Amino acid sequence: MKARDWKIVCFEEVTSTNDKAAEYAQTMCDEKLVIKAKKQTAGRGRRGRSWLSLEGNLFFSILLEYNEQNPGMLVIISALSLWQSIKFIAPSADVWLKWPNDVLLNGKKVSGILLEKAGEKHMIIGIGVNIVQSPQNEEMLYPTVSLKESGIDVSADDFLQIYLKQFDGNMNSLQKNGFEPLRRQWIANAKGIGAEIAVQQHNKQICGIFRGIDENANLLLQENTKLHKILAGDVFYKEEKK
Ligand code: BTN
Repeated sequence: MKARDWKIVCFEEVTSTNDKAAEYAQTMCDEKLVIKAKKQTAGRGRRGRSWLSLEGNLFFSILLEYNEQNPGMLVIISALSLWQSIKFIAPSADVWLKWPNDVLLNGKKVSGILLEKAGEKHMIIGIGVNIVQSPQNEEMLYPTVSLKESGIDVSADDFLQIYLKQFDGNMNSLQKNGFEPLRRQWIANAKGIGAEIAVQQHNKQICGIFRGIDENANLLLQENTKLHKILAGDVFYKEEKK
């Protein structure tokens, strides 16, 4: 499966593929650009956390022209594309989406997505996929797993090609049919719809029933009769330690 039209620039070592993508954003014309690296010395995750870049895993950043897409929608589409890629490779895999940007394989985090803005015109979608190893340190909020540890054998390069094809399909669908079909697909494969969850936001935690996401990709959390629309936070399922 070959993704067409993408220019993929590969590096041996970078601080972060998002940093490189931000450099390219200053000179880029209208190409579809991906920055990929074998090693990141300062990979970063959401909310100031670091992202350990273990050998053999996949680290890449997609540079997109920013034309008013809601960044939350881009996160949902990026995560859905990851879900679809794993299902394409291993149709019977136990894989679920977790708001906003996680993909769970056998209940554990297998990837991460970090969206950043570059200037006024570009968005960077930075993605890490645990292909062969799963990073685990005290900063990690959730248990992690790799594709290989779950019996899914695919190289980082093949995964990237499959991913870009899924991502392209979803972005075309967004342009043609809007966000609604993608929102439905995300919800259909999200873990814990209708169950009790806790959402951690800085110093505040809200508990309630997970009701899906709205048309702007906000999480819908029902606390008694009140429906919260949550823009950012970390989700914990009931069985997880908070
Ligand atoms: C998270 O789950 O906290 C998001 C992790 C995102 C990691 C990827 S790896 C490629 C890109 N470069 C970075 O420095 N971060 C993202």
